Amino acid sequence: MSDDTTAPIAAAASRQVAVSVTVNGRRSDHTVAARTLLVHHIRDNLQLTGTHVGCDTSNCGACTVLLDGESVKSCTLLAVQADGGDITTVEGLSGPFDGFSAMQEGFRQCHGLQCGYCTPGMLMAATGLLEENGPDITEREIREGLEGNLCRCTGYEMIVRSVRWAAEHPEPDDS
Ligand code: FES
Ligand code: FES
Repeated sequence: MSDDTTAPIAAAASRQVAVSVTVNGRRSDHTVAARTLLVHHIRDNLQLTGTHVGCDTSNCGACTVLLDGESVKSCTLLAVQADGGDITTVEGLSGPFDGFSAMQEGFRQCHGLQCGYCTPGMLMAATGLLEENGPDITEREIREGLEGNLCRCTGYEMIVRSVRWAAEHPEPDDS
């Protein structure tokens, strides 16, 4: 019977697991269902709703965060897979441009957003990309690096310019 074969899977998915993560510099400890996606943990348990859900099928990138310095789509990971990790969400971005990071300021200066729905994920993906490629990042590297982040409004041109702006305005090293 199919019920007999699916029951153990359902039981495993609803099992409670401990998840400890550091998010934007603050440690949090929770017990969640094993099936909880990282994006839902971030939004529902940590109340950080700047991380958006656009598709839930790993296509749009609206849910992108940095996990241990690398951009990841948080709808593609279980919360428990991030256990022990260091996460930065869009709420954790800040810097010397009136409190904004260079990437945020680039989007402001170059009109890299319209409705803003994709913007948190775009900012996090672009931040990870610039970290990885450095200030000499090329337009092609920007376009290829942001391929997994969809924007229905801007046509991408202003987003590419925004990332270039950030690359040309490196933030001074801090701690
Ligand atoms: Fe994660 Fe769309 S919500 S990729
Ligand atoms: Fe509207 Fe990108 S600014 S989806």
